[in-house]
Amino acid sequence: MKDDMVPLVKPYIPDRDVLMPALESILYSGYIAEGQAVYDFENRFKEYIGNPYCLAVHSGTDALHLAFRLIGIQPGDEVISTPMTAEPTNTSIVMAGGKIVWGDVNPHNGLLDPASVRSLITERTKAIVLVHYAGMVCDMNAFTALSHEFGIPIVEDAAHALGSKWRGLMTGCNSPYTIFSLQAIKHMTTVDGGFLCVKEETVLNRARRLRWFGLDKGRSRLENDITEVGYKYAMNNVNATIGNVQMQYVRDVVGRYIANGRYYDAALSGIPGISLVEYAPDTEPSYWLYTMRVERRDDFIKMMEAAGIMVSPLHHRSDTHSLFKASQRELPNMDKWYAEYIHIPCGWWVDEETRNYIVETIKRGW
Ligand SMILES: Cc1ncc(COP(=O)(O)O)c(C=O)c1O
Repeated sequence: MKDDMVPLVKPYIPDRDVLMPALESILYSGYIAEGQAVYDFENRFKEYIGNPYCLAVHSGTDALHLAFRLIGIQPGDEVISTPMTAEPTNTSIVMAGGKIVWGDVNPHNGLLDPASVRSLITERTKAIVLVHYAGMVCDMNAFTALSHEFGIPIVEDAAHALGSKWRGLMTGCNSPYTIFSLQAIKHMTTVDGGFLCVKEETVLNRARRLRWFGLDKGRSRLENDITEVGYKYAMNNVNATIGNVQMQYVRDVVGRYIANGRYYDAALSGIPGISLVEYAPDTEPSYWLYTMRVERRDDFIKMMEAAGIMVSPLHHRSDTHSLFKASQRELPNMDKWYAEYIHIPCGWWVDEETRNYIVETIKRGW
């Protein structure tokens, strides 16, 4: 990428004047492991999401693995998932011992198709993983009904979807398990970090112990008794301090992704060669990447790059990795979607002038 290109992803880092004093203070405070800064960050995040049961962890991948542990995935249990995601969604199912069953996607938005998932449910199905890819929200009306009908829990992978909504409620409030990633290029970053959001206090308390080897941090080490094995998935005070500063800006930053996404939805409709995605009913995307389908994709990419705009499909479909070979099956809609989809820059760094330029460049054709 040339230095002057409009990037497709870019970390939002608060101003030096605000961030550096906070970081310096925690670094020399004598307490840089999990502590008060983490608990403050959790409280701010809970308020933002509107769910009192949110746990900070070291990564979105850790949060996914914890969710599968909490569900109790055993070797051989089936987990229905999507290939249209970043790899950690699916490697963490394997970490937990689960067998992946690939659902096909809706060819109009690349999100898991409820009809395909329904056809794959067996008595061995222990979880359904919904990836709100690129900030678009899966068909939660259909999936929530399916989850209740079969008694199978949903894990929402909302790594791309901070600030998105279903029926007016923030993602993170709507299913037994939702995870977020605070990795470098997400809507909000703590350099690395993640959240697990659950719906019950007892589940949260168990997750909190699993986050720290199985120990109860509320008791002294000498009084502790590990009853089940946990991990070292805690967030530390340094990452949490970045998070506490980020929380001052998150509404505004996420709002800028959403404003740009809505602008493109209107400005790019009806352009020959472009098909806009269909959003699921009652959902509000948070547009981490602006996603659409395009004819002659390679030509489109060349034309946009020549105009100084980074565009890319960004992700490698998971089902073609050798690791997941045993799960391979025909996914005709995924094939169609995968050949056509593209992302264009949509984030906080895209100002009005830049987004107009992007639209005008596309309108000139390729
Ligand atoms: C869809 C998706 N799920 C999960 C993850 C894992 O998050 P993390 O990198 O914080 O472990 C990522 C990305 O990094 C992702 O894009």
